[in-house]
Amino acid sequence: MAKLIAGNWKMNGLMASSHALASGLAEKVKAKPDRADVAICPQGPLIKDALAAVSGSPISVGGQDCHASESGAHTGDTSAALLADLGCSCVIVGHSERRADHGETSEQVKSKAEAALKAGLVAIVCVGETEAERDAGQTETVVGQQIDGSLPEGGTPQTVVIAYEPVWAIGTGRTPSLEEIGAVHAFVRSRAQESQGLGDGLRILYGGSVKPGNAADILAIPGVDGALVGGASLTVGDFWGIIENCP
Ligand code: 13P
Repeated sequence: MAKLIAGNWKMNGLMASSHALASGLAEKVKAKPDRADVAICPQGPLIKDALAAVSGSPISVGGQDCHASESGAHTGDTSAALLADLGCSCVIVGHSERRADHGETSEQVKSKAEAALKAGLVAIVCVGETEAERDAGQTETVVGQQIDGSLPEGGTPQTVVIAYEPVWAIGTGRTPSLEEIGAVHAFVRSRAQESQGLGDGLRILYGGSVKPGNAADILAIPGVDGALVGGASLTVGDFWGIIENCP
């Protein structure tokens, strides 16, 4: 299975900078298309331009969130149906920044993931413990509950991806050890199997301070099927440095 390297641009980029980033990346990926499956997730209003910038390359474009409903009176939200209509192929749901900033519960994340599947999008479902939870030895309890609560009904390894992102590793330059990452990924796979029968062939990404310098080691861990990258997805050099380092 090819690794999936997905860039979560978060709330970064304006028209010119995001166009340059997407088209610069498209050139790199077109020249070496076999390194990995590559996706970028820009802010909603940048998606259409990003799709144009990567057209003719194998790069997929995705959203960073979607609403659970197909349409309706939900000011400020974006439907999965619109993301699909624009040409997106995936959407991130349940990122820890949305769980923290918007109080999203696993129940809501599950509904969003189900809306994504209904619209024909791959749902990238995020889970991960805080530093306090890890220090208290609760990583598996917390991540297990998030998996049980957030995975959509009726998903398959083709339509669901899990991203394990320890909250304390996001944007901090700190990561768990390679052994710790491997252990949580093995746990995530077995729990996804128990919970939704999704273990075999499921792609489980690691996210949290993935950089060109640590990507080769992290991506070589058994059970790590790719990376969800924040800060280092914001320059062509760093993001390509990660893609190029795929084992
Ligand atoms: P960083 O790569 O900046 O740590 O962010 C990870 C992340 O949150 C991706 O969704």
